[in-house]
Amino acid sequence: MEWSSYHRLEDIHGYMDYLAETFPDVCSVVSIGNSVEGRPLKVIRISNGKANAPALWIDGGIHAREWISPAAVTYIINHLVENSEDLEADYYILPVANPDGYEYTFTRDRLWRKNRKRSVGSQCTGVDLNRNFGYRWGGLGTSKDPCREIYAGSGPFSEPETNAIRYFFEASAANFKAYLTFHSYGQYILYPWGYDKRVPPDYADLEMVGKQMATAIKKAGGANSVYTVGNSATTLYAASGGSDDWAKAILKIKYAYTIELRDTGKYGFVLPARYITPTAKEALAAVMVVTEACKSL
Ligand code: ARG
Ligand code: ZN
Repeated sequence: MEWSSYHRLEDIHGYMDYLAETFPDVCSVVSIGNSVEGRPLKVIRISNGKANAPALWIDGGIHAREWISPAAVTYIINHLVENSEDLEADYYILPVANPDGYEYTFTRDRLWRKNRKRSVGSQCTGVDLNRNFGYRWGGLGTSKDPCREIYAGSGPFSEPETNAIRYFFEASAANFKAYLTFHSYGQYILYPWGYDKRVPPDYADLEMVGKQMATAIKKAGGANSVYTVGNSATTLYAASGGSDDWAKAILKIKYAYTIELRDTGKYGFVLPARYITPTAKEALAAVMVVTEACKSL
């Protein structure tokens, strides 16, 4: 693996399998389910076996066109495996949560966002997976129209990709303290709620750790690496059925964040590959801050 170009799904999955084969004491790979078109949803677990370690979930690529997200997440995987002696948490990482959409952005339409579900009774394809989670499904910032980019699906967890994530958490005994989902673009660190402008009771903790992330990102990335911290619906826009709201409300995972990586609009989704490494370093800095916060819970 390398981070000077964006990679196809096959390469990303091949890299995960390679790590599991080469470092079996620190990592293992499981497929938590299959996409609409039958591609595996591969999760890598990275742990050095320290007792009582908190668990962190990290995902990327839920929106197909946001290529920087899987690229940054694989960079994080690489760093964690290379520094596995020092790990103070267990990590469960799904770098490509929407594999069909991701491949489609390479083969057909660079700006595809949704998954590749064909809707019955419509010519249009695709559900917005980040509107398909089962908390406040179908509320503000969603659509019932399969032709829209924010189509929420036929019901909560109607999609195999979101359902696989739900079943993974239902079956897992790990002690999850954080749920980080990487998107682009805009340079935001967003915490719940996304369904409307309200905030959870412990939002001050989320705001504080969010600010710490922004500070660490600035340090890692320099003058242009300014990330705005805030409540999702207020800072960006209201959008219901997101994975972060579900993680916070239903799974009761304290540190649930959506992180919108670079840039602020110059290139948008089509971020040139020369920005992968600097952006990934920022994402990694954020993960380290959250790890620290989880340890003291
Ligand atoms: N850009 C992301 C999206 O549209 C933001 C999600 C923020 N979280 C939320 N629950 N609204 O999916
Ligand atoms: Zn997104």
